[in-house]
Amino acid sequence: MLGVSSPLGVRMAISITQPDDWHLHLRDGDLLNVVVPHSAQHFRRAIIMPNLKPPIITTSAAVSYRESILKALPAHSYFDPLMTLYLTDNTSPTQIKLARESGVVFAVKLYPAGATTNSQDGVTDLFGNCLPVLEEMIKQNMPLLVHGEVTNPEVDVFDREKVFIDQVLKPLVNKLPQLKVVMEHITTSDAVKFVESLNEGSVAATVTPQHLLLNRNAIFQGGLQPHSYCLPVLKREIHRQAISSAVTSGSKRFFLGTDSAPHERRRKECSCGCAGIYNAPVALSLYAKVFEEAGALDKLEAFTSFNGPDFYGLPRNSTKIQLSKAPWKVPESFSYSEGEIIPMFAGQTLDWLPSFA
Ligand code: DOR
Ligand code: ZN
Repeated sequence: MLGVSSPLGVRMAISITQPDDWHLHLRDGDLLNVVVPHSAQHFRRAIIMPNLKPPIITTSAAVSYRESILKALPAHSYFDPLMTLYLTDNTSPTQIKLARESGVVFAVKLYPAGATTNSQDGVTDLFGNCLPVLEEMIKQNMPLLVHGEVTNPEVDVFDREKVFIDQVLKPLVNKLPQLKVVMEHITTSDAVKFVESLNEGSVAATVTPQHLLLNRNAIFQGGLQPHSYCLPVLKREIHRQAISSAVTSGSKRFFLGTDSAPHERRRKECSCGCAGIYNAPVALSLYAKVFEEAGALDKLEAFTSFNGPDFYGLPRNSTKIQLSKAPWKVPESFSYSEGEIIPMFAGQTLDWLPSFA
């Protein structure tokens, strides 16, 4: 990382290897066309989540989804979508072989059935139906990306991640220690402890800007705030602090995954609002803020740009991006044919401005 400061001592800028987003929802239809340029503006690659309607359960569906994403890119963009398959009770080991052979599918996503947006076709019996698939994933060195929440309605919504670790993840890593697992969008100190207790390179975690910067008060601040509602839901301040310390410590086990998840405004601001925070335009500024506040800007680049590719066994990017300490205002909304999407921190001023120098 290169630090630059002007002789007049006013503006600071840092130059880092271009980041990748290891957890991204791009949707489809016209919404895809609005959001793809925002991610492509900052990120070189992204792991594309498969929870469309219908979900991406085959390699051929992943290949055609990838083509739609490439069509939505601005001219001269090098953005590379890394596709995933949506695991179901009926996924076959052959699908995993085909996925690996395709060269465009990089992981398989586990949604416990009913856990979140479009998860109704997700897994109901991981250790029964899915075991042969998981064994094939080990052979193909393909990571399992996990939405780590139990769906039992009797479990308190704030405890669902911790219970999932105890009931599913611990038995999973005991049974299949060679399986590469990414615990997605971690939200608790329990998840930090779990990931840190295992071998580096076998289990890792992505972390979102919202879980680093906000605690659950944000959902109720001055009235119900639908644009701060995501799943797993924001947790207590002690959990936010634990995640922030883990990430800014420089550990290789944690890497950038925004979980940017746009929903049209009326689907958020209604009597049964969807979960998801649209953070793609602001994510990089926010991660820089977290590391700056922790006095750990020297560790930002490993989190944004090294730990992810190292875990996935992919090359690090060779392009660079600059982050200048300059105020900029987040747009209030982005319009498209079906309405608008509201970004995280809409209308607010942020400190770190990303650009290609
Ligand atoms: O808040 C979320 N939104 N969490 C998820 O797990 C899914 C995502 C979405 O697709 O909307
Ligand atoms: Zn997600």
